[in-house]
Amino acid sequence: MAHEASIDAPAPQTRDGAPTAVRRRDFINVAAVTFASVGGVAALYPLISQMAPSADVLAESSTEIDISSIQPGQSIKAVFRKQPVFIRNLTPQEMAEARKVDTGSLRDPQTLGERTKPGKENWLITLGVCTHLGCVPLGAAEGEVKGEFGGYFCPCHGSHYDTAARIRKGPAPTNLEVPEYAFLSDTVVKIG
Ligand code: FES
Repeated sequence: MAHEASIDAPAPQTRDGAPTAVRRRDFINVAAVTFASVGGVAALYPLISQMAPSADVLAESSTEIDISSIQPGQSIKAVFRKQPVFIRNLTPQEMAEARKVDTGSLRDPQTLGERTKPGKENWLITLGVCTHLGCVPLGAAEGEVKGEFGGYFCPCHGSHYDTAARIRKGPAPTNLEVPEYAFLSDTVVKIG
């Protein structure tokens, strides 16, 4: 069973409403196709169709996202299990910034490599949920502040995350969570 999320990507316009040729965007909404990975449970569905989906079926749901349009320096927000997910294509400079940090100085010590997939360290995929009290940090959309460390900033109580989405300043206790995900190809990532 599959359904498509709505697309919300207004065409770039000038102030007078005319379309612009090219405008760099840090934030793109993309179509995300969500699949309920029911597996063998599917055969039983007609028998239980009058019932709400079981918890284990919901828990197995996953989201496949086409990331081909996300340029270096850009991010998108997706939704996974009703939570925002940030998918960010880091620039070489942002990766260098993350790598030069002494992890021993971090509240939640992790390297960029530990938070990304081998060979794809430019793809930073995290939940968009502050680990303090659950606000959605800023920094994934064009024009939003990214905080003092160039990653994300939570305006609720002032947590700053760096370009590996690691907590660097403020009350959040841990880094933004990296969900389970896998690359199905160079352009499609499956979250969950
Ligand atoms: S919820 Fe983000 S700093 Fe408090």
